[in-house]
Amino acid sequence: MKSRKKGSTLHSPFLKSTMKKKDASFEAPLRPLSLQEFTGQPHTAARLQILIQAAKKRNDALGHLLFFGPPGLGKTTLAQILAGEMEKKLITTSGPVIEKPADIAGILTSLQEGDCLFIDEIHRLPKTIEEYLYSAMEDFRIDLMIDSGPNARSVPIELPPFTLIGATTKSGMLSSPLRTRFHHQLRLDYYSVETLTTIAFRTAKLLGKPLDPPSALSIAKRSRGTPRVLNNLMRWLRDYADIHAGGTISQESTKEALDMLAIDEKGLDEMDKKILTVMMEHHNGGPVGINTLALAVGEESSTIAEVYEPFLVREGLIKRTPRGRELTPLAYAYLQPEKNTPASENKHHIREPKA
Ligand SMILES: Nc1ncnc2c1ncn2[C@@H]1O[C@H](COP(=O)(O)OP(=O)(O)O)[C@@H](O)[C@H]1O
Ligand SMILES: [Mg+2]
Repeated sequence: MKSRKKGSTLHSPFLKSTMKKKDASFEAPLRPLSLQEFTGQPHTAARLQILIQAAKKRNDALGHLLFFGPPGLGKTTLAQILAGEMEKKLITTSGPVIEKPADIAGILTSLQEGDCLFIDEIHRLPKTIEEYLYSAMEDFRIDLMIDSGPNARSVPIELPPFTLIGATTKSGMLSSPLRTRFHHQLRLDYYSVETLTTIAFRTAKLLGKPLDPPSALSIAKRSRGTPRVLNNLMRWLRDYADIHAGGTISQESTKEALDMLAIDEKGLDEMDKKILTVMMEHHNGGPVGINTLALAVGEESSTIAEVYEPFLVREGLIKRTPRGRELTPLAYAYLQPEKNTPASENKHHIREPKA
């Protein structure tokens, strides 16, 4: 195989694979194991600390908790931390894998007192399963249907007090009866560059690679507010340093490795830039619908909606309107830094007020 020229751009969908592949086993060594080790999300962490202490003091199970927020911010990590802090078992499953009532009944009846049941992507639970959860969550009881036809009857089964921890990236898709049965709903926010810098040092230590502050900062800036992106970038930097820089992560090796992924200072990769450019050049800045956009850039619309758009919106480069997505003046300033006046302002100038 031909070896790649050092420093040449790598056209791999780094962000897409980072954001769409969830909970890979290699993430485990980097997961913080206690609340103390967990950096960032100060409001959520403070609330959890109180809930844990109170539950322990009462010798009771934690109330049911729902974590919501974009992928890679620490929902699974926090579920694991909670079970660990409570010194209870964590049973992990996810919405789409529970298909039949028997599946959920099997899981629920195997729970022991205080256990935490983690249901990832809980918005994807089938409706029939959701209904089983209502009584399980509220009364720690389920009514199992036995037999069918004329012999069908329901048998009530008592469950030990347990904690349901739900996680979802789409809290709006959760039905309201399910949502209201969670005692605590905690939203995870994107991380600041400062917090991500701290996490970068922690990850570097776990990977056994010292990191200098300027490199930590440039990685943090390119991580889209997301620890999962940060950790994957760090692994890439380690691999690059091992092959090209004698095993040491330096400012130079960091720059080369990041350049190869074609992620710029703002954290935008090639697909982000393609989306913005297509909107500017082919759609006059919008509004444009997500399906049209997806077709134009050659990507699935779900990937645009879940991986790319939230960041572009958060950075103020795109705004969502009822008619579709539109570029903002900031996007024009980004795409055409040589022009002092953003094109969108020009656009408005065309429509001179009538005298
Ligand atoms: N606050 C944090 N500090 C350090 N690492 C974190 C933090 N939050 C998340 N991570 C890391 O980011 C990765 C993704 O976290 P995860 O809990 O799987 O996100 P989610 O379940 O929200 O998609 C994991 O490798 C985890 O170790
Ligand atoms: Mg997760």
